[in-house]
Amino acid sequence: MRAVIATEPGGPDVLALQERPDPHPGPGEVVLEVAASAVNRADLLQRQGLYPPPPGASDVLGLECSGTVREVGHGVERWRVGDEVCALLAGGGYAEQVLVPAGQLMAVPAGVDLVTAAALPEVACTVWSNVFMVAGLQPGETLLVHGGAGGIGTFAIQLAAAVGAVVAATAGSAGKLEICRSLGASITADYRNQDFVEVVKEATRDRPGGPGADVVLDNMGAAYLGRNLDVLATSGRLVVIGMQGGSRAELDLGTLMRKRAAVIATTLRARPALTARRSHETA
Ligand SMILES: NC(=O)c1ccc[n+]([C@@H]2O[C@H](COP(=O)([O-])OP(=O)(O)OC[C@H]3O[C@@H](n4cnc5c(N)ncnc54)[C@H](OP(=O)(O)O)[C@@H]3O)[C@@H](O)[C@H]2O)c1
Repeated sequence: MRAVIATEPGGPDVLALQERPDPHPGPGEVVLEVAASAVNRADLLQRQGLYPPPPGASDVLGLECSGTVREVGHGVERWRVGDEVCALLAGGGYAEQVLVPAGQLMAVPAGVDLVTAAALPEVACTVWSNVFMVAGLQPGETLLVHGGAGGIGTFAIQLAAAVGAVVAATAGSAGKLEICRSLGASITADYRNQDFVEVVKEATRDRPGGPGADVVLDNMGAAYLGRNLDVLATSGRLVVIGMQGGSRAELDLGTLMRKRAAVIATTLRARPALTARRSHETA
């Protein structure tokens, strides 16, 4: 099969097609005939040499894809040859075929075409696992999404609005703020010329639990840590999923204690593979 790799760290010109052996599934694994793969910020960083694949992951680019099941390994019961699916990958999506732990496959949702479905797994898994499973966002609570017009942000706004949360979003231009509002954000701040702490506190000042956001989904890391703590309401949860503003900052534990708040940071890619057996156990 043919696969796309980065021959060295650099721009798009370092991408090259290579011939690789066709993959075959082991127990709990599935091989897909790839229909489409997505372009994530992480793929661009990996191509530039700034985000190496974790130990054991493919050096072929591509963190998600869609396609048709070509072969299933021993113990895989949920999927059959010919099924149309999308997949969350530790790498390997930029290829004609890819090996996937069966627990990392999802059915293509009704009404979504196979090519579009390639862009769902990263955002769906990141947003669901962080905003709902980790931070436990509830209907009626307020979620602040940084980078609301980006890949993660657009999905987070829609999902949180759909479950009845109040959604606040930051973005870098008037046009992008309009996109956030059209997707369900009722509070918006232009991070280039507005202070999102002031905007969110002002918009939520009459809430019964006091002003602020119950959950913050953060892509900026260090650069926003202080202001994210400031904007958190009592019992708020800050979930950091990106380090676009650096990884080292000072944390005021006094603020955290007074607010009875939590700071959590997670990444999808470094997690162990979800084979059929493990996904069944955790279902
Ligand atoms: N931990 C995980 O498992 C995981 C998984 C997937 C993604 N991520 C991370 O999530 C983040 C978003 O990923 P993505 O795929 O959505 O990337 P993307 O589409 O490239 O979006 C990046 C976003 O960053 C925003 N941004 C830039 N500077 C900002 C600032 N100063 N304040 C607020 N927002 C700012 C941009 O806003 P404008 O366009 O409005 O300027 C844009 O919306 C990335 O940091 C990525 O690494 C983490």
